[in-house]
Amino acid sequence: MCGIIGCVNDEAVAPILLRGLKRVEYRGYDSAGVATVSESVIRVTKAAGRIDDIERKYGLSTLTGTTGIAHTRWATHGGVTDRNAHPHTSCRERVAIVHNGIIENYLELKKQLRAKGHIFKSETDSEVIAHLIEAEYHQVKDPVKATILAAKKLKGQYAFAALFQDAPELITGARKDAPLLIGVGDTKNFIASDVLAFIEYTDRTIFLDNQEVVKVTNRSVEIFDMNGRSVKRKPTQVAWELADLSKMDYAHYTLKEIHEQPKTVVSAMMQNEEKLAEFVEKIRGARSVFVTAAGTSYHAGLLLKYRLERDAAIRCEVTLAGEFREHSEFVDGGSVVIALSQSGETADLLEAIREAKKKGAKVLSLVNAAGSTLARESDLTLLLNCGPEVGVAATKSFTAQVVVANLIVDNLVGSRNGRGEEVARMVEEALSSEPTVKEIARMYRERSDFYFIGRGYHYPMALEGALKMKELSYIHAEGMAASELKHGTLALIEDGTPVVVINPRGETHADTLSNAEELKARGARVIGISDEPSEVYTHFIKIPRAKESLTPVLEAIPLQLMAYWTAVEKRNDPDYPRNLAKSVTVK
Ligand code: F6R
Repeated sequence: MCGIIGCVNDEAVAPILLRGLKRVEYRGYDSAGVATVSESVIRVTKAAGRIDDIERKYGLSTLTGTTGIAHTRWATHGGVTDRNAHPHTSCRERVAIVHNGIIENYLELKKQLRAKGHIFKSETDSEVIAHLIEAEYHQVKDPVKATILAAKKLKGQYAFAALFQDAPELITGARKDAPLLIGVGDTKNFIASDVLAFIEYTDRTIFLDNQEVVKVTNRSVEIFDMNGRSVKRKPTQVAWELADLSKMDYAHYTLKEIHEQPKTVVSAMMQNEEKLAEFVEKIRGARSVFVTAAGTSYHAGLLLKYRLERDAAIRCEVTLAGEFREHSEFVDGGSVVIALSQSGETADLLEAIREAKKKGAKVLSLVNAAGSTLARESDLTLLLNCGPEVGVAATKSFTAQVVVANLIVDNLVGSRNGRGEEVARMVEEALSSEPTVKEIARMYRERSDFYFIGRGYHYPMALEGALKMKELSYIHAEGMAASELKHGTLALIEDGTPVVVINPRGETHADTLSNAEELKARGARVIGISDEPSEVYTHFIKIPRAKESLTPVLEAIPLQLMAYWTAVEKRNDPDYPRNLAKSVTVK
């Protein structure tokens, strides 16, 4: 949550900051701002709203200077206002900062600083960082020392970058439990929350470790620990293909990413054989297996559990990442904890795996972002290989998680993995449901409630369908086990209520069909997603016939399209749904 970028360049920096900001806008998009330093003045332009609008109104990219920092916000402390937008400056405008995270002791720090005469301009927790650095800098006259001294006073999570009025040739940064990366260029260097912020300019990246501080000029990068000792770390090269972030001919990233899935499921299936075998061996050798994740990744985790138990006879507990600590009684040195994540930066998940490690468990992960904290802190990682996912709603990362989970289980039981081309062809076929789905979206866009049901292996897909619908269309949606309907929720069904029934052929088909009949008898409009038509369905969305393990991938396509097209019908922005951010780096 919140994207930060800082750059020291040898020419105007603001246009570079603006481009970087737009690339990390997915991290938060309620306000944005840029600060640069030139001629001994820190200049700040910031406002509530989307980056493009702020640029049009105030010209973020026109600020002068070769050194600057920028921020795109997802509000935690303090409302969405111009004043609360970052960068924040200290009282004498000698220091400006941008911050991602939560400063837990900000009220206490604010009180102390106020007592010393500091005047605060915003309601944020972040502003204390600027005041703290200014106060320390006043004493020690050294940007790095001041940054360390200030960072040592902070409790909570942070990744921040600071700009100094009288040291215009540098920026400093520090991190604890929030990501901060360095981009090493030839004539410019960067600090950012995500490699996407600078990948256009350099692929050489240094991942800062927790509680490290950095000083960046346009020709040098120096890293320090919290005692001021120098830390040597070489840059690693990240994949250039991350630079390809255009929407192509699609109206939104979300639609592009949905349509990329015939390709991305295949790239996800291309796993290094040895690593996969090692992953599988670790599961086989474990005394107990736990799975943890959040949101859509949690739904993929539920599917993994089903397959591990049904097909590999391996008992498995799945826990929401944010609930893991409270349910980790039985995690120990003989356990394997499998963490699933697109971003690899979800705070709840990082806390869960750290708890697991503390208890001696091995952490295995399925993650899309290669250099992410999760990937670096796991004992073993399988990458999802589906390319950057920009749309806030998880789409291609979900189907990639499902196919990688399938690879794991297929390898565990020694069965043959599906062939890539065959899987791609079926996903392509599922995409041909788009005109039908679009029509359904148009018909039901004004409804206030949607229900999604499924049984067994299709139950997590009911949860996933509802989550997608809520976050993109803002329509209340509930996903549930088909069997649960008559235990209460059926009371909410009335004439015209849309209910999506996820029901391909298989052992749960007949029972779910009966539930569809019960729904229809009470006036519901039943939207069937299946490889088998039925008269009970008011609308039928056909997906190809496939073996059970692949059905969630095929079901995901119309569910994603339905949420997307409903959002478009309602004139929502599907790429940037309100109140959300792609990478949930706060608890
Ligand atoms: C929903 C969605 C979120 C994420 C969740 C976990 O479309 O995108 O529910 O799935 O925030 O994020 P990752 O997978 O990055 O850990």
